[in-house]
Amino acid sequence: MAKQLFIKTYGCQMNVYDSTRMADTLAPLGYAVTDRLEDADLVILNTCHIREKASEKVFSELGRLRRLKQAKAARGAPMLIGVAGCVAQAEGEEIVRRAPQVDLVFGPQTYHRLPEMVRRALGPEAGRPVLDTEFPTESKFDHLPEEASPQGAAGFLSIQEGCDKFCTFCVVPYTRGAEFSRPAAEIVAEAERMVSAGTIEITLLGQNVNAYHGEAGGAATWGLGRLIRRLARIDGLRRLRYTTSHPADMDAELIEAHGDVAELMPYLHLPVQSGSDRILRAMNRRHGAADYLDIVARLRRARPDLALSSDFIVGFPGETDQDFAQTLRLVTEVGYAQAYSFKYSPRPGTPAADQPDQVPEAVKDERLAMLQTLLNEQQTAFNRASVGRVVEVLFERAGRGAGQLVGRSPHMQAVHAAAPSALLGRLVPVEIEAGHANSLAGRVVEARAPGPAGGIPVGAATAGAGR
Ligand code: 5AD
Ligand code: SF4
Repeated sequence: MAKQLFIKTYGCQMNVYDSTRMADTLAPLGYAVTDRLEDADLVILNTCHIREKASEKVFSELGRLRRLKQAKAARGAPMLIGVAGCVAQAEGEEIVRRAPQVDLVFGPQTYHRLPEMVRRALGPEAGRPVLDTEFPTESKFDHLPEEASPQGAAGFLSIQEGCDKFCTFCVVPYTRGAEFSRPAAEIVAEAERMVSAGTIEITLLGQNVNAYHGEAGGAATWGLGRLIRRLARIDGLRRLRYTTSHPADMDAELIEAHGDVAELMPYLHLPVQSGSDRILRAMNRRHGAADYLDIVARLRRARPDLALSSDFIVGFPGETDQDFAQTLRLVTEVGYAQAYSFKYSPRPGTPAADQPDQVPEAVKDERLAMLQTLLNEQQTAFNRASVGRVVEVLFERAGRGAGQLVGRSPHMQAVHAAAPSALLGRLVPVEIEAGHANSLAGRVVEARAPGPAGGIPVGAATAGAGR
């Protein structure tokens, strides 16, 4: 019988992608993915180190797993525990010391070696933790097997990794390492395989995805705009997205692609973090508020219906009420469809963590609440503005109610509608009837039976038009 693998993923979409690739590396060893923790022969926590809370969760989860491991061992059912991802990278030794129940600890750049690590953990040295948090000179992408399991209608493809920006609050340059772009041909081939396996929407992933500069034969390198144009030509690929971008890497070619490439969805996550030039400088963000507004204006000229999303940090060291007011002003000026906001969380080893002028927790709480109120208002207004429109939805999964499906609009809104399961994995025009804070509800229009080649012809009902 197949051995059972349970992976719990924390944090960003890059981790989600990595988890699927870890499963791919273990498939040849006979591991099948399960969603039942109790059945697992191997449990992997794919962890996130970005903020303190994210890291803490790992240690409390490890406590629970230790008890499960003991209970299973008593029944004669051994279970291996692995810790992967950014906490493993940053605190590998600490995990080994504090959590002896852990068998494997490995960082984001070494999981292509997972089969070997598992063999060691099961071999004569069983019981001694296997630790691999190197930054190997070889790229894991050259050593991963082809994708074993299809990702579904909407899938992720990692094209770039790591970060050389060194924002002063961020652990990513330390946990993920230096920036690296996969060669264009390799990405195109992976995208083609995904599309043959049924994926019609691909989100290109990278910590700094628009810093992409991949080899493209000879001395040529492609930027993200060029890569997107090439990927859009793949037959059957209907939607493209990318995340996460840095404003300083938003070049003219990429902005133009937003205007010219119909497959590139009109939604962009472009984190600004703060609206204060002083704070942006202290964060080492390499741009000011006006530069950001200018990029947004250029993007909107290229693609007038573009919806924007961002990340914000409140309470960065030294942030005054005036600085924070500038963040609110920027938010008002841009008008976001969605956003994530966080209280600044000092991360060990990052420059900002040692700054003396830390902002009191109560002030952070207050600013976060104010910012979130404004962002929620914008998000709700954006969703309400969809009511009465027909948008193209890619149905991805069953909804909560019987006979309901849930999918995404071009603007990344979750859309619920009564629909037969035959429409799963298809792009379907949906008339929006209600707009809530976090989702839309609508009714399928033009519900023709799906043809064998897949996809319902949607013609002029293209999504988001006219916003
Ligand atoms: N504290 C709070 N938020 C942070 N982020 C990254 N590092 C920190 C930190 N130390 C946020 C940023 C980033 C998002 C992924 O997480 O907003 O864009
Ligand atoms: Fe972190 Fe800044 Fe790099 Fe983004 S650009 S991963 S916030 S260092």
